[in-house]
Amino acid sequence: MNIQWYPGHMTKTRRMIAEQIKHMDAVCEILDARIPISSRNPDVDELTAGKPRLVVLNRVDQADPDSTAKWASYFKGKGYAVLESDAKSGQGTARFAAAVRELLEDKIRAYEEKGQNRVIRVMILGIPNVGKSTFINKIAGRKTAKTEDRPGVTRAKQWVPIDKNLELLDTPGILWPKFEDQSVGLNLAYTGAVKDDILDTETLGCHLMAYLGQRYPQALSAAYKLPDIPEREEEENDIAWGYRLLETAGRKRGFLISGGDVDTERMAKILLDEFRSGKLGRFTLELPEGV
Ligand code: G4P
Repeated sequence: MNIQWYPGHMTKTRRMIAEQIKHMDAVCEILDARIPISSRNPDVDELTAGKPRLVVLNRVDQADPDSTAKWASYFKGKGYAVLESDAKSGQGTARFAAAVRELLEDKIRAYEEKGQNRVIRVMILGIPNVGKSTFINKIAGRKTAKTEDRPGVTRAKQWVPIDKNLELLDTPGILWPKFEDQSVGLNLAYTGAVKDDILDTETLGCHLMAYLGQRYPQALSAAYKLPDIPEREEEENDIAWGYRLLETAGRKRGFLISGGDVDTERMAKILLDEFRSGKLGRFTLELPEGV
C-alpha cells in the first residue's frame, strides 16, 4: 500500500497507541532493512517510552548483508533486541517468540517466581510497506488477507495469538514516516512506499543512479554492462551525475529517441522497476551515523 497523507487519521492512531501502551510488555517495531531510519515513525520513541523494544529488520533478502549487520549492531547498541527477517519467504520469522522471551527474560522469570502464568503482550508497529502484514501472518501462521487501513473505516484493534503465552496487538491506523526530510522522501519513493507521483520518475532515477554509482558502482556496471561508469566531476551534483549515468545506461540498452538522444525517462522507469524487484541486486540506502 502506498502512503497517503491524512493528518486527522494520524492523530487518532497516535492516541490509540498512547492508550494501549500501558498494557504492553514490549514493542515490536518493523523496519525496512534497506532504509532502517527512513522507515521509522519518528514518534515511536516518544509514544512507547521505556518499553522494551524488539526491532525487526525486515526485507533482509533485498538489503545488502554487510549493511544489515551494521544496522543490527547499531540497534543492539541502543539496548534493543533485533530480528533479521524476510517475511516473504519466512526466513528469520520463526525466531520471533524466542527473541521476545529473551528480551523479557527478567520479567518472565519474576512472573514465574510468583507463580503467575501471564500472557506476554507485544504491540507491533510499522509504517506502510515495511511488510508488517506479511510478517504478522507468518509468525501467527495465518493466511488471512490483509485488512486495509483506510481513513474513515474504523478497524478494531486486533489481538493476534502467537502461542499460548504470547499475544500481539496489531494497532489499527497508519503510522507515517518523517516526510519533511528530502532524503527520507527519496528513500521511501525508491522502495515504492510512496507513490511515484511525489517526484517525477526521471528525477528519482537520477538520484538513485547517483547513490548506486557512488556506493555500489560494481553492481551498477554489472547490471547495465557499463565497463566504464562516468566519473563524477568535482562540481557535479547528484542530479547532473545521475542524469549522465542514466544516459550511459539507456544508450547501452538502446533506448533512443529521435535525434539520437537517450530516452532517460524510460531508463529511469526501468531502473526503479529493477531496483524494486531485486533484479539489480541487494542494496541498503542508508547507514548508521559514523559508519
Ligand atoms: P505492510 O503491511 O507493511 O504495508 O506490507 P505488506 O505486508 O502488505 O507487504 C508489502 C509487499 O512487500 C508484499 O508484496 C509482500 O509480499 C512484500 N514483502 C513483505 N515482506 C517482505 C520481505 O521480507 N521480503 C520481500 N522481498 N518482500 C516482502 P506484494 O507484491 O504487494 O504482494 P505479494 O504478491 O508478494 O503477496
